[in-house]
Amino acid sequence: MKIAVLGTGYVGLVSGACFSAWGHEVTGVDIDRARVDRLNAGDIPIFEPGLAECVLACREAGRLAFTTDLALALKDVDIVFIAVGTPAGQHDGEADLSYVFEAGRQIARTLRGPAVVVTKSTVPVGTAERLEAVMRDAAPSGEFVVASNPEFLREGSALEDFNRPDRVVIGCEDRWAGGLLEALYAPLAAEGIRIVTTGRRSAELIKYAANAFLATKIAFINEMADLCERVNANVEDIALGMGLDRRIGADFLKAGPGYGGSCFPKDTVALLRTAQDSGVTLRLVEQTIAANTARKHTLARRLASLLGGTLRGKHIAVLGLTFKAETDDMRDAPAQTLIRCALEAGATVSAYDPAGMDNARQVLPEAHFAADPIECATGADALVIMTDWASFRTLDLARVGEVMRRRAIMDLRGLYDVDLLVKQYRFTVDRVGAPLRSPERASRITLNAHARRQSGALPVHNGFRNLETSDTAPALPGGSIPREEFVNDQSQII
Ligand code: UGA
Repeated sequence: MKIAVLGTGYVGLVSGACFSAWGHEVTGVDIDRARVDRLNAGDIPIFEPGLAECVLACREAGRLAFTTDLALALKDVDIVFIAVGTPAGQHDGEADLSYVFEAGRQIARTLRGPAVVVTKSTVPVGTAERLEAVMRDAAPSGEFVVASNPEFLREGSALEDFNRPDRVVIGCEDRWAGGLLEALYAPLAAEGIRIVTTGRRSAELIKYAANAFLATKIAFINEMADLCERVNANVEDIALGMGLDRRIGADFLKAGPGYGGSCFPKDTVALLRTAQDSGVTLRLVEQTIAANTARKHTLARRLASLLGGTLRGKHIAVLGLTFKAETDDMRDAPAQTLIRCALEAGATVSAYDPAGMDNARQVLPEAHFAADPIECATGADALVIMTDWASFRTLDLARVGEVMRRRAIMDLRGLYDVDLLVKQYRFTVDRVGAPLRSPERASRITLNAHARRQSGALPVHNGFRNLETSDTAPALPGGSIPREEFVNDQSQII
């Protein structure tokens, strides 16, 4: 088939390259000439594992080209994908569809034969219908059908997601167009991957519903992590035990600093907006957004409590800046919130990321950027793990401990073996969803707790007496600090 993809951003580039790798003739179109020139020179402007190799191979095979010339790209085309940006608009997070509609107008005026025009960008319910109206206005007798085919790619594993999706969703009411799209995805169907064909509105909503549900799953496990920290349980065990129930599923139950990126934050807010416009209240989605925002903003307070109650005058090393590993994307990354709050609270911050430094420099001009993890950790009072880059797993922790001013780690991705950190390297470890552990403080705090229990001054927080220090509580494992005790040791937070 002959395919044109409008927009050579993340979705457009990955989709175009993958369709081409399947054997189709693909032209990527962009209005940005410099970008098109770069792509034609084999220079891939985004970071995505395997993408550069895929683009180069398809270009060498003569099946993938990039142009600013829409007429050239649309000549004899069968399917046109619209993969232009849909940024959050100015009003309550409503998606800005002006690029989508402008692309549609130009396609309608340029097409010279029958084609299916497909929205790949994440667009609110009803967009395909509106797009078709805009296109009909521009070319009343144009031979086109508008369909929806949302993408479910994750940054960092986009090629794998494209070639082995859990499902393909096609929103199309027209038989001919639906047949053409099903033929396009026939190689996946042949491998047993389900092609779900629905009406256009349902297809559009599936994308938002899926993202909102995944965001809710993450927000839920993050709340369980908070609870685990207080009741001396381990969130990884909770996630394992929950996730083995097939009705729940094991994916997206990894507790962390809160979700970020260009999709969940934007799409959950856009979904709320759609619901509001339709007179429907989505309480769960509202709470997910609120819980995630609050979580990102409490990270600095959590760090302060690890360091004696204040961040003033402290030096913080942050490893991992992007919103997740295997991307250079800093959009809505929790590291941004933590670093800004820490700087505001009077700390100095040294930061390092294997891929996101250039983007991080743009959004965090006040941070110091280190050349490697060891330089980053040097002189720090605490090391914070914000992103689970694989390379951080093999850090020389003995060396890290030597160069730091104080041996404290806030591991928000559950990257390290806490026993090893505490017993072998003598770190105090604040790991997400697990009891706080320290080599030195455990005995002192346990003694303090005992003394205060004797005097009846045991702290009560949020109406709950601290379980670990109650008379009936079992002894804590070596070095484990009751988090309530730890926090209550501090007179002032930040
Ligand atoms: C997300 C969806 O997963 C894709 O299916 C969808 O196509 C894409 O949005 C989109 O709408 O375009 P993405 O934002 O690239 O993909 O990344 P995810 O892997 O979903 O991670 C999102 C955030 O959730 C990250 O900050 C990540 O660290 C966090 N996360 C994810 C967790 O904290 N815990 C988890 O268990 C999983």
